[in-house]
Amino acid sequence: MDRRRFIMLGTAGSVAVLTGCGTGSDGGAAMPPTATPPPPASPPVSNPTMTTPVSPLTAGQPLSQLVRLPNTSTTPNVFAASLVAQRASKSMLPGALTEFWTYNSLVPGPLIDVFEGDTVRIRLINQLSQETTVHWHGLPVPPEQDGNPMDPVAPGANRLYKFRLPVGSAGTYWYHPHPHVYTAEQVFRGMAGLLIVRSRTDPVPAAIEEKLLVVSDLRLAADGTIPSNTAMDWQNGREGNYVLVNGQNQPVLTINPGQSQRWRILNATNARYLRLALTGHTMTLIGTDGGLLRSPVPGLDEILLAPAERVDVIVTASLSSRASAVLQALPYDRGSMGMMGFASSTISLLTVNYTSAATTAVALPGTLNSIADLGIPTKAKRLVLSSGMGMGGMGMGGMMGFLIDGKTFDPSRVDLTSRVNEIEQWTIENRSSMDHPFHLHGTQFQVVSRTHGGAATAEPYLAWRDTVNVPAFESVVFKVVQRQPGKRMYHCHILEHEDQGMMGVLEVVA
Ligand code: C2O
Ligand code: CU
Ligand code: CU
Repeated sequence: MDRRRFIMLGTAGSVAVLTGCGTGSDGGAAMPPTATPPPPASPPVSNPTMTTPVSPLTAGQPLSQLVRLPNTSTTPNVFAASLVAQRASKSMLPGALTEFWTYNSLVPGPLIDVFEGDTVRIRLINQLSQETTVHWHGLPVPPEQDGNPMDPVAPGANRLYKFRLPVGSAGTYWYHPHPHVYTAEQVFRGMAGLLIVRSRTDPVPAAIEEKLLVVSDLRLAADGTIPSNTAMDWQNGREGNYVLVNGQNQPVLTINPGQSQRWRILNATNARYLRLALTGHTMTLIGTDGGLLRSPVPGLDEILLAPAERVDVIVTASLSSRASAVLQALPYDRGSMGMMGFASSTISLLTVNYTSAATTAVALPGTLNSIADLGIPTKAKRLVLSSGMGMGGMGMGGMMGFLIDGKTFDPSRVDLTSRVNEIEQWTIENRSSMDHPFHLHGTQFQVVSRTHGGAATAEPYLAWRDTVNVPAFESVVFKVVQRQPGKRMYHCHILEHEDQGMMGVLEVVA
């Protein structure tokens, strides 16, 4: 494989203007009708709506809602839309424009909000100057619709993705590009969006207000550009100098004393581990990647959200306190490829301000979902994650490669085979000095156990996941069933590792 394909391509093609990070406000006054005589020249009037928009990097602005991708279909239970992969510029730092790569000129990408049973038809229009795909992370879509790196959409080309969301698939998903070797760059330049599949019989009371939080990472140079990856980024995974929520730096969300809110949180960063904590509050976990838990897990002081993972949590504002709270990412040592550990510090993601109007908390049902245990596995697989010299040669910049079973990714090779509907037990063993979030396409799995210091601990509750962190020198065991034939990817979701070949192909046979 030619690693030189990593170099950034030129700036061919037009650059759209970023339309904002949220629903935003109206974009200025409409033009007067032509019959109206032009107004007499007069000194400019101070008008707050005419000032330069505040940069999303200015902390303390109200949290933007995600912009919804409009459904252009009038047929019931069909969701049809287009996603345009395109450049878009926005003023982030004073006096500079930042060019993002986006879906529909939005960072994060538009919210796709659909129901179980819906047929989804989304056309990708690629206006970038490199190939891309749309991958429906976590969804049980047919392999040929899943945006695999083997199915690229060329610059200037387009394709329709079509799939039906089965009953039982309600959960918090996302979409992002998955082209061979370009995934990390396309995501860190802005391409990722939330996708929610809703149930028509969601057991969580509708009176519990829902907030959608997409956490992304942005690195800006002093001139406002988004720099390319360094050799160190290719090793440890890229982290930015801003951690954004819905495209904003430390926005503010309001809550009434006593009120419960449902927060669906996506870690859309390339490599940052989010050890989430809300000051002065605990969180109640109600769902993971692929849907709701059997019953709520209350009293959590913190939740570790590895890259690509999602959680569905209930946050209840205390009635006694009128203070504000801060959603933080606490320090987490995920290891590194160098001599030094990857020391991170506490980061403020979001401020939660209390209003003065108290609200009565809405009770959660004791049972949320009927997750059945997948059953007794009849096949076992063991995968080893490591770093070093692989069959595929050296990684970026002549450094170590990132390997699964001693190999780097080859799109023309089949690494593993499974049979449709067969229950398998997978053991993922990490023999490297840093954590790797392991992800498998096409289905949701159930973690059985994880080691801590080499000793296995049984997973305390059943949960549907498609991504699980495998800490340095530890292992994770999960049960999994694939329901559709075809080729599925499995890989590390530190996107720099994925691009360097920490990925394999599973062929599911009928
Ligand atoms: Cu979120 Cu194969 O990826
Ligand atoms: Cu995926
Ligand atoms: Cu990795």
